[in-house]
Amino acid sequence: MLTSFRSNLETRKYSKALQGYLEPFQLSLEKLQEVSHRLRRDMTRGLGKHSHHNAPVKMLPTFVRATPDGTEKGDFLALDLGGTHFRVLHVRVVEEEQKVLKMDSQICTIPTDMMLGPGQQLFDHIAACLGDFISSRNLKGQTLPLGFTFSFPCEQKEIDKSILIRWTKGFKCSGVEGEDVVKLLKEAIQRRGDYEIGTVAMVNDTVGTMMSCGYRDQSCEIGMIIGTGTNACYMEEMKNVKRVEGEDGRMCINTEWGGFGDDGSLKDIQTTFDVMVDEASVNPGVHIFEKMISGMYLGEIVRLLLVKLTEDKFLFSGQASETLLMPGSFETNVIYPFISAEHSLENVEHILTKLGLKWDEVDARVVRVCCDTISSRSARLCAAALAAITNRIRNNRKLGHLKTTVGVDGTVYKKHPNFGEELQATVRLLAPACHITFMVSEDGSGKGAAMVTAVAQRLARQSRLLEDSEGEDEEEEEEDENN
Ligand code: BGC
Repeated sequence: MLTSFRSNLETRKYSKALQGYLEPFQLSLEKLQEVSHRLRRDMTRGLGKHSHHNAPVKMLPTFVRATPDGTEKGDFLALDLGGTHFRVLHVRVVEEEQKVLKMDSQICTIPTDMMLGPGQQLFDHIAACLGDFISSRNLKGQTLPLGFTFSFPCEQKEIDKSILIRWTKGFKCSGVEGEDVVKLLKEAIQRRGDYEIGTVAMVNDTVGTMMSCGYRDQSCEIGMIIGTGTNACYMEEMKNVKRVEGEDGRMCINTEWGGFGDDGSLKDIQTTFDVMVDEASVNPGVHIFEKMISGMYLGEIVRLLLVKLTEDKFLFSGQASETLLMPGSFETNVIYPFISAEHSLENVEHILTKLGLKWDEVDARVVRVCCDTISSRSARLCAAALAAITNRIRNNRKLGHLKTTVGVDGTVYKKHPNFGEELQATVRLLAPACHITFMVSEDGSGKGAAMVTAVAQRLARQSRLLEDSEGEDEEEEEEDENN
């Protein structure tokens, strides 16, 4: 493809040399198959009673034992914290319409210094935003149940007790790792003392996504996020969840697949650029898989490759701009216009000029190939990971063929012009016996958190009914005996 446009520039040599830079990002189907197998092995380690301690893929039990059955109802508050923004929502789950209605919502930003400051400051900020929302919407005094989407790896003890294992995605607030996040939130609300909340259900965004899609399609049993970070959850057989008592039924497991490779198992596919991104991050050595895939890092991988190509005189006549040399200056969303079918030179002109670069059409095309190659690797790696999950579910259930639905959310999946297509095509090759429907979550994981709270309440209601009716049986039996 490159030959056609470098025809006046000794194309063959140029293309071959360029291909040398791109090759480490181009993973064959066999390699992806291998990666998928490695992840499956690590998933088993993560589920094990003893092996989980050192497992890079954490496989965290979520205590979510059921997906929605369509009879959930009520009003809820939802908090959604997972990136630089934080959302508060008032949500109504309507049984008759099988709908989760967003009544109202508000977005608060989290300033960068707060992402790296004391934890108490972060939770006070969250409590203040929630307080503002409650009073401006006249919800004070209603004591609504709260679904809290907290999109970081947490060891969940109960649905309302969740210990942060570690921060990811650029957060590094002190005094939160190892602590119960629900408790920190409740303490911040108590410090204010001007409003109250009801029962809290805490969920990861993957779980929220699975649950909100599950309300529309009850065969949705996987949730996947490809946004600032990446992760997936799925319904696992209880008998395989060795760390939780009980053998019956299923439980949703938050895989935290972003940690895949943290024990060095992906060294063979990590490029020098991946290593540089990891080393420059606030958490080196942590979430290696995520750093090869998600929106927080993709743009930076591209930038580092462009800098190298410029240094080696393949781009911009060997002249990098000050902006291009600045870490973080090539954001992931800049990739999309390069790849888009309507890719017009005007779009690209705007971006490259903003980066202070002197470029020609060949440069623009080479940048496009770089963006394409790096995002394509991301989609294919996600496919390998998703295939590991669907193949596992199929195996668990001893099915020749599995039909299932994945709820998906995240800016990379939603905004990248062909990410979804490439992911789906690759997963079909890696998991040929699984028919997967992809359902994009329109609701956001915040609504899903409300849904988890609603399902928890429904189950509590049903178990109360069960206890009542057992009581009645006993009474009837007593009456029979008396007669
Ligand atoms: C976090 C996950 C989260 C994912 C997507 C990762 O960095 O560890 O808990 O689900 O990002 O937001």
